[in-house]
Amino acid sequence: MKSVSLIIDGKEIRASEGQKILWAALDNGIYIPNLCAIRERSEPTAACRLCFVEIEGKDMPVTACTEPVREGLVINTKGPRALRLARTALELILSNHPVNCAKCPRNGSCELQIIAKHLGVKLTTRKFRKFLPALPVDSSSPVFVYDPNKCVLCGRCVWVCQEKLGIGAIGFAYRGFQRMVTTFSNEPVIQSICQSCGDCVIVCPTGALVFKNAKGVEI
Ligand code: SF4
Ligand code: SF4
Ligand code: FES
Repeated sequence: MKSVSLIIDGKEIRASEGQKILWAALDNGIYIPNLCAIRERSEPTAACRLCFVEIEGKDMPVTACTEPVREGLVINTKGPRALRLARTALELILSNHPVNCAKCPRNGSCELQIIAKHLGVKLTTRKFRKFLPALPVDSSSPVFVYDPNKCVLCGRCVWVCQEKLGIGAIGFAYRGFQRMVTTFSNEPVIQSICQSCGDCVIVCPTGALVFKNAKGVEI
């Protein structure tokens, strides 16, 4: 594939023509917050709205997971308009996320912590009114625990289970504030067609899906 040259945050990089800005940046050591993007997925969902960047000559910030690179692009990942949009998206996610990191097995490796630090947003922000669901935790799987209260609806687990593996044990259910990842007819994981492969756990960016043998997991 043809290679193009572009500038991100003042650094000249090369990338394959048509590659999305997000992956070109990450491959070159330039971090752009992201939760819903999956490299192997051809059609990004652009659901999390965290990956905004500014492109010279464009009026509005664009999502880096959907915008392809082109020869000569000049990109700013830290422009004020892009940061404002990304911060608002994060503040909305945090408005229904229980922030109790000290007791979470993902403390220190959670992508929400990384993104909040990068964007200069406090995890305890109260910009939007806090609405915490109190959903039951599912520990029925022999290999993992699923805590839907910590889910940020990124969809990575659903894509892996449905599209990559072709199993389809989990999917999205309900709409609006009720939207959640669950099994078919909301049965415990152990009663579903889950194969206990754990691939969904590997891609989960938060403490929503954690292996039972991980440090700090309470069953
Ligand atoms: S463990 Fe494997 S089969 Fe079960 S929900 Fe996760 S990805 Fe699907
Ligand atoms: S369980 Fe994890 S991977 Fe799945 S949608 Fe929620 S946060 Fe994303
Ligand atoms: S990573 Fe681009 S919108 Fe989620």
